[in-house]
Amino acid sequence: MKKLIEAVLNAKRTVALTGAGVSTLSGIPDFRGPQGMYRNPEAEKIFDIDWFDRDPGVYYRGCRELVYGFEKFRPGPVHLALKQLEDAGRLAGIATQNIDMLHQKAGSSNVWELHGSPLWHHCRICGKSATFEQVCSQLKAGAEVARCVCGGALKPDITFFGEMLPEEALIAAQSAAIGADVMMVLGTSLTVFPAAGLPNLTLQAGGKVFIVNAQPTALDRYAAGRYPDLREFAEAVKNALA
Ligand code: OAD
Ligand code: ZN
Repeated sequence: MKKLIEAVLNAKRTVALTGAGVSTLSGIPDFRGPQGMYRNPEAEKIFDIDWFDRDPGVYYRGCRELVYGFEKFRPGPVHLALKQLEDAGRLAGIATQNIDMLHQKAGSSNVWELHGSPLWHHCRICGKSATFEQVCSQLKAGAEVARCVCGGALKPDITFFGEMLPEEALIAAQSAAIGADVMMVLGTSLTVFPAAGLPNLTLQAGGKVFIVNAQPTALDRYAAGRYPDLREFAEAVKNALA
């Protein structure tokens, strides 16, 4: 981990790409880890736009406990370490694939949510918006699917398979990746594009990529350093900034 910390302390511009692995330390399951959600093949339907339009209950049944229980989850050690790095002027921004809003909860201000978030929902028929709280209160009152006044299903502004990524966040993350001399890849299997392509942009522009992830990734052999343990990463950051 020493090489990674040294690189970050000496870099002109460091950015982070985070995935579900950073939130397992907060108790939220990842997708493709040994205890991941996708062990159940049915779970792949949950974030699929065609399934949503066929039966929004697939998403709402799958996410009732998890997404609409997000209030109870707290930022974990990696979220806090990244906030510390930002405060110390050592981190330009975080491109995250996570939809749990935990980087913002930790206080990080420059977060590009590549896969959106459930903070807002929109009606699939008329486009009207609804807040996370409005959806939660419908679900608490017993609704199986949260609905707009027009009767249409309310879809969270999470990027489902079959949808485009939010353009502004993607462009910001891509230009940050190109401009970074160090990119930290934290807790992602690097399997879902275009997010998984961001470290390539850094490499192509001559920057270094460090990977902290339990399972191997396709970019491991191009990394300047590769470590398995995110908890250890958070500890090392804390010690370096102390
Ligand atoms: P994955 O579940 O694919 O990858 C998470 C990675 O984190 C796995 O490789 C784990 O081994 C690793 N990991 C978990 N806990 C760890 C720990 N404590 N220390 C080190 N490594 C750990 O999640 P993502 O790459 O984020 O999309 O998945 C990408 C996208 O696929 C998600 O954003 C989601 C999903 O479909 C949408 O929901 C739109
Ligand atoms: Zn509507």
